[in-house]
Amino acid sequence: MYTEKSENMGIQNIKLSQEKYDNMDSDVLICALTKEKLAEMRKSDSGEMSKVLKATLFRAEFCETDLVPNIHDKKPKRYLFVGLDEGAKLDLEKIRKAYAAAIRLLKFSQVNDFTVLLPDLKFEKHGLIKAIVEGLLLGDYHFDRYKTLEPRAKEIRNMTVLAESKYKELVEETQKLCNNVNLVRDWVNESGSIEHPEEIVEMSKSIADANKLKIKILDASELKEQGLNLIYSVGKGSKHSPYLIIMEYNGNPDSKERIAVIGKGLTFDSGGMNLKPETAMQDMKCDMAGAATVLGLVKTAAELRLKKNIIAVIGTAENMIGPDAYKPGDILKSYNGITVEVANTDAEGRLVLADAISYTVRNYKPDLIIDLATLTGAVVVALGVHTIGMFSNDSKAAQLLEDAGKKVYERVWSFPMFQEYKDDIKSEIADLRNLGPKGQAGSINGAVFLEPFAENTPWVHLDIVGVAFLDKERGYLPKGGTGTGLRLLVEFLKK
Ligand code: BES
Ligand code: ZN
Ligand code: ZN
Repeated sequence: MYTEKSENMGIQNIKLSQEKYDNMDSDVLICALTKEKLAEMRKSDSGEMSKVLKATLFRAEFCETDLVPNIHDKKPKRYLFVGLDEGAKLDLEKIRKAYAAAIRLLKFSQVNDFTVLLPDLKFEKHGLIKAIVEGLLLGDYHFDRYKTLEPRAKEIRNMTVLAESKYKELVEETQKLCNNVNLVRDWVNESGSIEHPEEIVEMSKSIADANKLKIKILDASELKEQGLNLIYSVGKGSKHSPYLIIMEYNGNPDSKERIAVIGKGLTFDSGGMNLKPETAMQDMKCDMAGAATVLGLVKTAAELRLKKNIIAVIGTAENMIGPDAYKPGDILKSYNGITVEVANTDAEGRLVLADAISYTVRNYKPDLIIDLATLTGAVVVALGVHTIGMFSNDSKAAQLLEDAGKKVYERVWSFPMFQEYKDDIKSEIADLRNLGPKGQAGSINGAVFLEPFAENTPWVHLDIVGVAFLDKERGYLPKGGTGTGLRLLVEFLKK
């Protein structure tokens, strides 16, 4: 059940063609229209499409879709019009959303293939084509492998983009990226009773194998032996061993610079002895979204041959209740020697990450660390589901991530880490407490807890709770796992 290849194969064959749209044999031609373009076409007396449009009530409202058969018995067989609203208000994110609306309409139809006519818009073509392909491929995602009673979404295999062949590489790269975003979504959506830490290890091994990456894995006994007591303790209430996984991708052997990307991989977070209440536990299979994104990132980096040296690190465990579970009041010594008072076993993510971060710092000496974690519910209170919470000891790296986020529309927002917050998580009986003052700055407390484990290495912490798992579909983002964070990191690493 736990596969490396997404069962949701979606659109696999993408071709580029310079044929004329009214000479294409495909089932559907997708045409996105602004209101201005629509008015112009309706006035015009020439062209097949103008004739068809005259017979419709299409208004080109944003994301409005209209699937119209070609009554003139000519090619193409059908037009799928998608509204773009006014041209002046358009940006590339709206393009992604509009094409996602188009593909959603086709998902449950009998269509086998479609053609995309590029709209004539103000954007440079490279960015426009990328956004269109992203909207289509990401909007096509569906996690319905367990549905047996209703029809499953039809897999549309073939797509043709009417563009010059010089865009072939761009389209192929975008396809690889989107396939990996969809794969991350699959991994996040799979249940915690199928995906345990050992499945995360298996996945990592197969990705390392396929891409000839160096991989190192520490299991429970090695974690304990080497003093990664924080990861070890979080995992010890489960019958599944916790692991630390480290993969190395060397895309730029000429450079000494190395970036570590570290993901929180709780395959299920029950809260432990501080058991989560019913509604809060519901979606806790998603607590490995950071790890899934890190896996997706090394895979993408290798497939796109990114010219960067990346150390991909995953701390994975299952936070369970049981006779061996760690307890509130426990005092644990971390890998770098800091002692931690466990005030709440549900603040387990920061414990797993703390050891993962200091193990990476001490053994790999990276130039920059970026961690991704579904760390705190509080980040949703602060930022909702549209923005990633960012915390950093390095303003330059933070700025670069902010820029990358704007570019791909996976936006981040910086929080402060003032000294007073650091004082708030000091323990009376140990160095640190894994909990801050009740009801105050929950996400910042999590971040300032992590900081000393980076030991002055430039570090960025991304709290992805709000964006990683949605309770309803939004544009090209599905309900459930979204894969948000992967396009951000790929964009960041390309720079
Ligand atoms: N895994 C949760 C964070 C989370 C919340 C993920 C909602 C996805 C959706 C994390 O381990 C957690 O339990 N955090 C606690 C911290 C608290 C005990 C300090 C929280 O946010 O309540
Ligand atoms: Zn928790
Ligand atoms: Zn958690």
